Amino acid sequence: MNILYDETGRLFKIDTQHTSYVLGIVDEEGFPGHAYYGPILEDIDVAYCMRIAEPPFVPSQNNRDRGCFLDTFPTEFPGNGVGDYRESAIEIADGNGNRAVQLFYKSHRIYPGKPKKEGLPATFGTDAECMTLEIVTQDPVLDLEVILFYSVFADTDAIARSVRVVNRGKESIQLEKIMSASLDMDNDNYKMLTLHGSWARERQMEWRSIGHGRQSVGSVRGESSHQEHPFLAVASENCTQTAGDVWGFHFVYSGNFLAQVERNQFDSLRISMGIHPGGFSYELKPGDVFEAPEVIMVYSAEGLGAMSRAYHDLYRNHLIRSPYKDRKRPILINNWEATYFDFDTDKLLAIAAEAKKAGIEMLVMDDGWFGHRNDDNSSLGDWQVNEEKLSGGLKYLVDQVNAIGLKFGIWFEPEMVSPDSDLYRQHPDWAIAVPNRVPCRLRNQYVLDLSRPEVVDYVYECVASVLRSANIEYVKWDMNRQLTDVGSGYLDNKHQGELMHRYVLGVYALQERLITEFPNLLLENCSGGGARFDPGMLYYSPQIWCSDDTDAVERLGIQEGTALLYPLSTIGAHVSDCPNHTVGRVTPFETRGHVALAGTFGYELDITRIPQEDRDMIPGQVELYHKYNDLIRRGDYYRIASYRDNHFYDCYEVVAKDRSEALLFYIQVMNRPNYHSRIIKVPGLDDTRRYRVEGEERTYAGSTLRNAGLVIPNMWGDFQSKLIHIVATDL
Ligand code: DGJ
Repeated sequence: MNILYDETGRLFKIDTQHTSYVLGIVDEEGFPGHAYYGPILEDIDVAYCMRIAEPPFVPSQNNRDRGCFLDTFPTEFPGNGVGDYRESAIEIADGNGNRAVQLFYKSHRIYPGKPKKEGLPATFGTDAECMTLEIVTQDPVLDLEVILFYSVFADTDAIARSVRVVNRGKESIQLEKIMSASLDMDNDNYKMLTLHGSWARERQMEWRSIGHGRQSVGSVRGESSHQEHPFLAVASENCTQTAGDVWGFHFVYSGNFLAQVERNQFDSLRISMGIHPGGFSYELKPGDVFEAPEVIMVYSAEGLGAMSRAYHDLYRNHLIRSPYKDRKRPILINNWEATYFDFDTDKLLAIAAEAKKAGIEMLVMDDGWFGHRNDDNSSLGDWQVNEEKLSGGLKYLVDQVNAIGLKFGIWFEPEMVSPDSDLYRQHPDWAIAVPNRVPCRLRNQYVLDLSRPEVVDYVYECVASVLRSANIEYVKWDMNRQLTDVGSGYLDNKHQGELMHRYVLGVYALQERLITEFPNLLLENCSGGGARFDPGMLYYSPQIWCSDDTDAVERLGIQEGTALLYPLSTIGAHVSDCPNHTVGRVTPFETRGHVALAGTFGYELDITRIPQEDRDMIPGQVELYHKYNDLIRRGDYYRIASYRDNHFYDCYEVVAKDRSEALLFYIQVMNRPNYHSRIIKVPGLDDTRRYRVEGEERTYAGSTLRNAGLVIPNMWGDFQSKLIHIVATDL
């Protein structure tokens, strides 16, 4: 990693191990422009990529066509209203309502380390692990300062970008839009990759060609959402897992977002990523500062696989803070799909006792333990234990579970309130709503207004006092509806446009307090499955529930899209009962275990009632977890084949960082009659070392496995799976 400044050319070159990013300051006025992002460059002087020697030239040489310059120049952080008609990165309304902003270079700093982002999740590293470039730009008319941050890391090919806006003027202004990154580049028949989904179908990969105009994904739902993911990539036409160029952009934020590619009249692309401007408006009084969240950019010249591994390393080493990030997580059994709301102390203890026999390590009590909640129509907000269900109280239950030899975890949905709750009856104004409009119910609940400090305090005390009352070692933090009727009785008229962002800041503040008071708590985020599976939440919890769809086959696509960006150690995955509760499919218990192993691993079933032959398989699966979890958590991930594309089988692999071993996951989704075996080429190993496939006598050179591959015999039946463990012989 390195960051260079060439004073003569006024160019900055930001280098990771394999990539360079170059920007320059152009013309006397000091327009910040983007020159290059791609494979590492020898030279810094690539200012010609900004085409300033061509018409319409820079304004000092041709002010007659200043507008043409602004509308074509690859601006590093484009303002609006003064000539560039492409997507702006910032919009300001001044005290008179005028909307214009244009940023010029003022100064810069290059330093070791990386500054914290107050109140926001962000990547981090020591002075030896990363370095930062800060470019201060300003709009002299508004007396506005916009600071652009770029950080690089020694151990991954990622660049973290973010922006700070400071009102240095004497009047209040409205920040109407703020992107965290904007990047202009020439198009070369590139295509665009995004992740789309729905409840139970999160993060499915989708490619599209890039047409003229704007194409985007986004969320205005108050969370990153099931539907679209705060990620986009632009890739060369030939991009595969192992070859081709790809530029990835991933937003470290858990609320509304916009991720967009715009292709203009000259076939240049402008990529924009930031908080969704829809409904956003933030007042900046004189001296106020607005921190925009971080975007993580990764360029890979070796296809999607190398991009995924760069994101995985960055998130494992520089985003997740939990002490569990590099620890084996206790194997949990969650009672949601086992009992739903129909449970009591005895039922939970029976599950715990049976689970203990099978080697499971923690019982998680899900929704329905508080207020009078026997279905999803009541009690959110009333976080007192329901002693009719849990006779003897919570501490008694926890102590009994501990006595059986299991840890105990609990479910909360702290951000919500049920209309049928004491909390709502006492404080109807604490729910998000627009005056004179009956707020829309979703799952029969409302969202609490986390812009209101007393609500944040109340919610925190509810959760913390339960945690203080017993030996609770895990929390599943759920969020089961998206925001509508976005109005706050706390914020005045001028500040309603701040609510969506303040809500997210409230969630972050709550979770920060929680992990500060309970530093050893294992926190798992969740949002109706995986609607808030984003890098922002990973800053607070080392794992996130990936999807409510626990079917092994559906999970293949969901976990593939998730693992495109996230390390397997973060992907909440459980073995559940069949017929599967979401799709009704029946898959072998063994396959369900193999698929869940490529995640955090746990169970979500009534172990006292599942078929005996399934129960008998649990100790073996537990053994596999203990054998392979270090490798799965820490290793390099390779996607080999995708059932989404070939309709028959899925294959992926985890390789130890020192290439001493690998685990290959092969799932034969559909059997194929009259078909020969499959040969799978095994990537990632050391070409020159020799390896043995567990269970076989012979050995293979790494290069043989890579080039000639391994034979996977056809298996009898659909939904069959196989784990193949490959170990170096020199160990
Ligand atoms: C949605 C979660 O994703 C489920 O696992 C479960 O916790 C339910 N909410 C409970 O209401």
